[in-house]
Amino acid sequence: MGKRVEGKVAMVFGAGAVGPGWGNGKASAVLYAREGATVFAVDVDEAAAADTRSIIESEGGICIAHRCDVALAADIERAVATCVATFGTVDIVHNNVGIVEVGGPLEINEASWDRTFAVNVRSMFLTAKHALPTMLAQGRGAFVNISSLAAIRYPGFPEASYVASKAAVIGLTQNMALQYAAHGIRANCILPGLMNTPTIVRPLTAAYGGDLAAMIAKRDAQSPTGRMGDGWDIAHAAVFLASDEAKYINGVALPVDGGLSLRFA
Ligand SMILES: NC(=O)c1ccc[n+]([C@@H]2O[C@H](COP(=O)([O-])OP(=O)(O)OC[C@H]3O[C@@H](n4cnc5c(N)ncnc54)[C@H](O)[C@@H]3O)[C@@H](O)[C@H]2O)c1
Repeated sequence: MGKRVEGKVAMVFGAGAVGPGWGNGKASAVLYAREGATVFAVDVDEAAAADTRSIIESEGGICIAHRCDVALAADIERAVATCVATFGTVDIVHNNVGIVEVGGPLEINEASWDRTFAVNVRSMFLTAKHALPTMLAQGRGAFVNISSLAAIRYPGFPEASYVASKAAVIGLTQNMALQYAAHGIRANCILPGLMNTPTIVRPLTAAYGGDLAAMIAKRDAQSPTGRMGDGWDIAHAAVFLASDEAKYINGVALPVDGGLSLRFA
């Protein structure tokens, strides 16, 4: 067991994974625990959160699994209150939940635009609203918000609501970072590039022509390293940003993309 976030309480929203293997949220939750944090694992899918809890407990860590739909304000309020009531505080809020919607203004509709924004960014405003009073009272806290490289680079196909919501994540994070810097509270975000996680299978296979193997091969080839990243790449960046090692790092939008964002062609 490491000690990089020892003694801290980490809430991970979207701590499960949508299929077998390691997603960004599941790997992050497990790595926070491996590095000494007590983990409050939140997910809309109770079984997925319970799976993460089982892994953490089997490794000797402490974790509670909690069901919450981040599209619902009352669910978020309850999740934060339960975490604080159970563990006494919240030191780290890791916002991982994000849904993908493929299409531009002609293909998507008002309701799905609103839903994408509610899940991808209003959720982060609400987790902050409910966690900040505790963090301000104790004079410490760290937010790690998961945006996307798609917030700043065209992903190769239209994803208007996803891209706009992920750009809003950067704005929210940077605004909070400056507002609370003098209170011992930091806010940073991570921009994953092309990651091989369970979530990409369903929505992206269609966007890449309907062939899963071809989609994986194409995304591997698109990466400057020749392979997509994985959930652990995001988890390592997140634990660093949440830890005191990053005490002077605030308001960054960190690409974790193998260098993809530097490419000209
Ligand atoms: N995988 C990629 O290539 C990639 C690239 C860029 C950004 N991202 C971002 O990474 C994050 C997700 O990581 P991932 O792709 O590894 O997925 P993941 O495996 O971490 O799964 C996300 C979890 O969120 C949960 N969830 C979904 N809707 C929810 C809701 N309304 N309330 C609570 N929980 C909910 C799911 O049940 C799932 O367990 C997203 O923010 C996504 O936009 C991923």
